Amino acid sequence: MNVHGKPTRTIWPHPSDPGIIQIIDQRALPHEWVVEDLASVADVATAIRDMHVRGAGLIGATVGFGMYLAAREVSDDVTGFLTRAGDLLKSTRPTAVNLAWAVDRQLRAIAEHPGDPVATALRTAIEIADEDADACRRIGEHGLALIEKIAASKNGAPVEILTHCNAGWLAFVDFGSATAPIYAAHDRGIPVHVWVDETRPRSQGAKLTAWELGQHGVPHTLIADNTGGHLMQHGMVDLVIVGTDRTTRTGDVANKIGTYLKALAAHDNGVPFYVALPSSSFDWKMRDGLKEIPIEERGSEEVKFADGLCDGRRCEVLVAPASTPAANFGFDVTPARLVTGLISERGVCGATESEILALYPEQA
Ligand code: MRU
Repeated sequence: MNVHGKPTRTIWPHPSDPGIIQIIDQRALPHEWVVEDLASVADVATAIRDMHVRGAGLIGATVGFGMYLAAREVSDDVTGFLTRAGDLLKSTRPTAVNLAWAVDRQLRAIAEHPGDPVATALRTAIEIADEDADACRRIGEHGLALIEKIAASKNGAPVEILTHCNAGWLAFVDFGSATAPIYAAHDRGIPVHVWVDETRPRSQGAKLTAWELGQHGVPHTLIADNTGGHLMQHGMVDLVIVGTDRTTRTGDVANKIGTYLKALAAHDNGVPFYVALPSSSFDWKMRDGLKEIPIEERGSEEVKFADGLCDGRRCEVLVAPASTPAANFGFDVTPARLVTGLISERGVCGATESEILALYPEQA
């Protein structure tokens, strides 16, 4: 994606120091552009847990590079050290399956090429990042066909798309999942307009999705989280596209808290509800999302405080009474029956086990 007019990824090895991986510290956006150096597996664990980086695909890519930094720290007992490093990384955020997927992929690659774990881990980390970017580019191509079809019936009026949280470029290595079809349509001159859910408590929509759509020149409007149902009742949404942190082989979708309510509203109003995901976000072992997907609970201060710019400086303000107890469930599960379709790098399919496996027969 273009940032300040220049093609940019969300994670990259330092150009001259092989001991450093660079990320964008997303906590500072949209007000400041901060590039952070990660020099150890401990730095990577902190960056993921405290959400300097976030979003399923980017967490997976960051873990890939984290295992490379871990491999540089090994002195003896390579397998034991890297397994412990992987366990540390897996413990940082429980819902996004990309995290465990990337750790296990690194451990397998290093076990298969034990001669030079550092070189193997770097090569694998770069592969994970490149594959993530390529998968998102292809999601864009497949999702574009859906937008083109709607555009054909709109007599030149913009296709109205609602999205939740940030499943954009910032949640992946490039392009994003939910945003990739939107960027593809915009780049081809199809008029689109995006309703951006604010996404409390961390406001990934307000801070990140609004910023990145703006950087790319895509028309958009920020809305408070509870607005989507009203817009759908009044015919102001043609299509919902969201991302996912983990989707079962039966099509149940875990995504940022509030996604389920959007899916219910879409169902009630006959609005198509699509989920965009690379195959690294499928959990091939799980069948029942409600029972099996672990839902992350974060600190209550994220709900009680809001943050932004005060007199030109970043600051936090207490919104609720200081003593009020607050609960902070990070994700919810949208049952497959409410999902119109899944957009993956292999194409668009229904959210059923048979249709998913028709695209991914190797998982049968
Ligand atoms: O808590 P986050 O910001 O890491 O959560 C990310 C999301 O839930 C997004 O909604 C996204 O759709 C999934 S990541 C592509």
